[in-house]
Amino acid sequence: MQVLKGLLQETVAPHLHVPSTEEMRILNLACGQCDEAATLVDFAKAQSKSEQVRLIGADIRIREILQARERHSHLPAEFLLEDATKLKSHKELGEDFNMVLLRHQNFWHGPELWKKIFEQGLEKVSDDGLLVITSYFDKEHQLALDALQGLGAELITTQSNPLSRKLISPGKSVDKHIAVFRRKG
Ligand SMILES: C[S@@+](CC[C@H](N)C(=O)[O-])C[C@H]1O[C@@H](n2cnc3c(N)ncnc32)[C@H](O)[C@@H]1O
Repeated sequence: MQVLKGLLQETVAPHLHVPSTEEMRILNLACGQCDEAATLVDFAKAQSKSEQVRLIGADIRIREILQARERHSHLPAEFLLEDATKLKSHKELGEDFNMVLLRHQNFWHGPELWKKIFEQGLEKVSDDGLLVITSYFDKEHQLALDALQGLGAELITTQSNPLSRKLISPGKSVDKHIAVFRRKG
């Protein structure tokens, strides 16, 4: 996860503003088994200075969530079985996340579904927080950028990852692109 760590530091950190006394809160939507949990906690600790960190992961698949709970039980993290299109009804989650992450967003597999997930994710971002996506594919990244901007998100930056690791499927590559958004207004 060294590559993701570097990517977050270069692309996201310059735009994050976490007061030194506050907890840094990350919501990782559609997190799967959350391979990146330890990386996110380390990143958050470096940003918050207070070292107070909370990572919440959510996915609709029970198997992945159980795996995430088992693998990352030593981290300041919790993993929720949650339909990310219905976060609105989950008021206790709060709407004050410093960062909402959708790693390897899956827009291609259901544009309408993913628009809803993006919309719900944006609502969970604090006023000066960020929504971050990464993508496996060029085209899928572009479609997600368009969709998020269509939902009113402001694109701060989008970067290609020169250290992305190629996968077997043509054109597919780990964290091939990253983009950072803030909520408008
Ligand atoms: C391409 S995988 C990415 C998983 C993980 N973020 C990663 O980078 O390995 C897409 C994930 O979206 C999740 N997902 C799909 N629909 C969802 C929904 N409505 N609510 C929450 N998660 C969902 C799937 O279960 C799957 O884990």
